[in-house]
Amino acid sequence: RSAPPSTLVIFGASGDLTRRKLIPAVASLARHGRLPKEFALVGVARTPMSDDEFRVSVLGDSGLGDLGQLAGGGLRYVSGGYDDPETYKSLATLLDELDHQRGTRGNHLFYLSTPPQAFTPIINGLAGAGLNRPRSEEGFSRLVIEKPYGTDLSSARQLDATVHSAFEEQQVFRIDHYLGKDTVQNVLALRFANSIFQPIWDRSWVDSVQITVAETLGVGTRGSFYETAGAMRDIVQNHVLQVLALALMEPPASFGAEALRNEKVKLLQAIRLPTDRDVADVAVRGQYTRGGTREELMPGYREEPGVDPLSRTETYAALRLDVDNWRWAGVPFYVRTGKRLPARVTEVALQFQRPPHLPIPGNQLTELEADALILRIQPNEGISLRFGAKVPGHSFRVRTASMEFSYDQTFQEESPEAYERLILDALLGDATLFIRTDEVEQCWRIVDPIIEHWANDTSPIPTYEAASWGPTDADRLIGRHGRVWRTPA
Ligand code: BG6
Repeated sequence: RSAPPSTLVIFGASGDLTRRKLIPAVASLARHGRLPKEFALVGVARTPMSDDEFRVSVLGDSGLGDLGQLAGGGLRYVSGGYDDPETYKSLATLLDELDHQRGTRGNHLFYLSTPPQAFTPIINGLAGAGLNRPRSEEGFSRLVIEKPYGTDLSSARQLDATVHSAFEEQQVFRIDHYLGKDTVQNVLALRFANSIFQPIWDRSWVDSVQITVAETLGVGTRGSFYETAGAMRDIVQNHVLQVLALALMEPPASFGAEALRNEKVKLLQAIRLPTDRDVADVAVRGQYTRGGTREELMPGYREEPGVDPLSRTETYAALRLDVDNWRWAGVPFYVRTGKRLPARVTEVALQFQRPPHLPIPGNQLTELEADALILRIQPNEGISLRFGAKVPGHSFRVRTASMEFSYDQTFQEESPEAYERLILDALLGDATLFIRTDEVEQCWRIVDPIIEHWANDTSPIPTYEAASWGPTDADRLIGRHGRVWRTPA
């Protein structure tokens, strides 16, 4: 798979994401021969810069590196205000020039990697210059939008109204970088390229499911952004619900964009919406305080730069979700995410029911956990199957053992970075791993009542020490039905 002749236009070109993720992803695509020689990259941002200064700002001063094919005018920069029509006129002229001189054939991918306030002016600006429509009969014009996609259902709808005033839904590629991870796509492979798991993938066999997205980092330099987000908007609304949807949806007839996204939407629609009264029973938040060890003392969230010293923003969230459909009725889904937890780990753990009858005395089973299938999204990418095995010896004791599949040891192939995969898919027009408008809406519907309840709750926000597994309320949430959080291995 390699990209067609095209120009990638990055708005927010002087930003952090461009330098850290997007340019390295494009360079890696070039290195792996996935970009044609008829390719150009244009950065757009407010900061005045020459083409050369832009190159140095994103690639350092050692030249074009892997992006050698952009030599001779293929790496360009347009500076201007996002609400200034002149910016888009200059951009349109430049794109025409590139189409003629470099053979990029009127294929344009506009990537919005700016703060969200700039989305609307950019979309209007593109439309004002006619760039929302293909410039030639066989060309394309596509829009890639980074998160956050709105801050709640109504702002997401407003943003969609702007997007759809200029672009058809088929032209729109909303990013959730978790979908670009190989291990997230492997949830699909595991479930639908095998037959052995499907029969046990339902309420008859699954006792409960835990999804963990744990980070060791704090908010770092992103404090002022994070203050407007919190863990629910930053991680649960998108990454957690996407992983959950892939793990729980019905088998799609194909992995085509519409077939797969239809199934995700159906699953998201089946998630029970918490009422204001339920929130206390199904959701827990927390904020990290100073903690760690004497050698590595970590500041509390309220001490981070850009954070209000009286902030009530949650850096941890845990929920119990219920999926009201035939496959999952009655099975609790526990999800949690947090910053400054003891380990960086993302996993989906299906815990299976205990055997209906034990032909061995219970006291010989004390070391036995419930059987579990753990999809390790990151790090240590792989899958573990945990089950009971006889301990060698004269008595019949059973202890938990594990079968491990590890990506590293099984495959020699290199795993592309999430952004690499997603940029290539967008250039190819494959929207399978992007979020459709109705998915965005469903996800906000699920998190909005919880965020709203917390915003109106004046009681002190529960805390947890940095480098601990979250507030004690989270243990009570899962303990209410006799379960405990897994400690990821
Ligand atoms: C981003 C969030 O979407 O995902 C960050 O805004 C978070 O706060 C990041 O750190 C986690 O991504 P990954 O790929 O490192 O798990």
